[in-house]
Amino acid sequence: MALQAINPTRTAAWAKLQAHYNFMQQQSIKTLFVEQPDRAHTFHIQWEDFLVDYSKNAITRETLQYLLELADEVHLKEAIAAYFEGDLINQTEQRAVLHTALRNPASATVRVDGQNVMPEIFAVKERIKTFVDAIISGTHKGYTGKAITDVVNIGIGGSDLGPAMVVEALQFYKNHLNVHFVSNVDGDHVQEVLKRVNPETTLFVIVSKTFTTQETLTNSETIRHWFLQSAQPADVARHFVAVSTNIQRVTAFGIHPENIFPMWDWVGGRFSLWSAVGLSIALAVGYEHFDQLLAGAHAMDEHFRTTSFDQNIPVILALLSIWYNNFYGAESEALIPYTQYLQKLAPYLQQGIMESNGKSIGRDGNPVNYQTGTIIWGEPGTNSQHAFFQLIHQGTKLIPTDFIGFVKALYGDQNHHDKLMSNFFAQTEALLNGKTEQQVLAEFAQQGISGDKAAFLKPFKVFSGDRPTNTLLIQQLTPASLGKLIALYEHKIFVQGVVWNIFSYDQWGVELGKQLANSILEEIESQQVKTHDSSTTFLLEHFLKNR
Ligand code: F6P
Repeated sequence: MALQAINPTRTAAWAKLQAHYNFMQQQSIKTLFVEQPDRAHTFHIQWEDFLVDYSKNAITRETLQYLLELADEVHLKEAIAAYFEGDLINQTEQRAVLHTALRNPASATVRVDGQNVMPEIFAVKERIKTFVDAIISGTHKGYTGKAITDVVNIGIGGSDLGPAMVVEALQFYKNHLNVHFVSNVDGDHVQEVLKRVNPETTLFVIVSKTFTTQETLTNSETIRHWFLQSAQPADVARHFVAVSTNIQRVTAFGIHPENIFPMWDWVGGRFSLWSAVGLSIALAVGYEHFDQLLAGAHAMDEHFRTTSFDQNIPVILALLSIWYNNFYGAESEALIPYTQYLQKLAPYLQQGIMESNGKSIGRDGNPVNYQTGTIIWGEPGTNSQHAFFQLIHQGTKLIPTDFIGFVKALYGDQNHHDKLMSNFFAQTEALLNGKTEQQVLAEFAQQGISGDKAAFLKPFKVFSGDRPTNTLLIQQLTPASLGKLIALYEHKIFVQGVVWNIFSYDQWGVELGKQLANSILEEIESQQVKTHDSSTTFLLEHFLKNR
């Protein structure tokens, strides 16, 4: 079943939300807490090791009711069933969207074109396990008989960001292998990585769903050339493996068929870390941990698939985001994990969220008449507090923010963790309450500031507060809880795409830049600038003259 094309602004719920917004925009979140002191009790979801408190938002029970009605009117329930059952919901590419199948138990059945894909998925998982075990244990040797010490993942976009984010996030669970990432076609990136590795003891994992991506192919060729300066062509088989759907092209590149880990066109690049694209994750933390990551994601899949919407974490977070994006006019959202391990979560989700929902044509083929994809950005706390938090607290923009924190630290240093978490709680409280004039005046009295000085300083020191936040308090950062967290945001993306009536699983916009880069490359190589706008011609001529 294809997803239905329903313009959300034509639903009855949208009209209710619009009228309700006109009332709510006069309300402050602080007042909502005064009127309903037990808001946290009403607006939270406790699920497994996740506690999600969304009470610090500009919502009432009525808001939630209308948002849930909106979900019903756009047939979200049916859409979720179509997503999990492998229907061709990526209609512009005529593909199913089945990253969820990758984390299913073996006993599940998921059909694509009438064929159960679970046996294939498990056959590849088995190969990943055997390969990873051989590399980690050292039984797989390099061309001079030494064990592998370093792994270089060569890929870009979804073939880089997911594995790089998870390897960083699960550092605590890491083994002795050093895992590096080369993504940019900038030759300095690859050279900096090659400086740190020895060809005799390095495994190169080329990851490209299509195996046509300029950056990945260029980096792979440069690395193979570098490798062959000390090794023989026959040694390539011990040191190069590939992950791709395009077996023909990988073979043509010179990778032995036994060294190819397949993936499928029903796995989108930005949702692919659960497939063999996650090979470098499994190498870094071992297969067991990789499997726990998948199991965590599966638990979130089940929560999302089976829980009523009012208790459903991805659904609630998606609807809140729609509330701010489409009614309050919020342009961006921030994501602040209170752990250094998740420093790559925001860049990872930038691809997931913005490549998926950065669309302006509705599923009926017409331009949308409302806002879609949110801009997402963020950095870990507490660093971000000393960088851009000023703008979230006192700037002119509304920036709904997700705070992600953990009850227990991994190394268990309570002194550090209590300090970290006191900041975590303090920030959402400060964003909610701000600082009143009375508080500022009381501070001035204590500090002996009065008269003209006090009058001058007062407006700068008063904070309005009323800045909405969600708090995700998770027990501990483990492979399983990380799997749940990533899957949560994947499903949030899905829900928003359904409501916004767009296709979330293609990325035609990215293709134009790729095509233009190829034709400009030909001009640079032939030193013949063709017809462009005058700015591009001017810049190209300057580059060619001075390079
Ligand atoms: O940036 C566009 C894109 O197509 C992404 O969707 C994808 O993750 C990335 O390029 C890499 O593609 P591939 O895995 O095919 O090399």
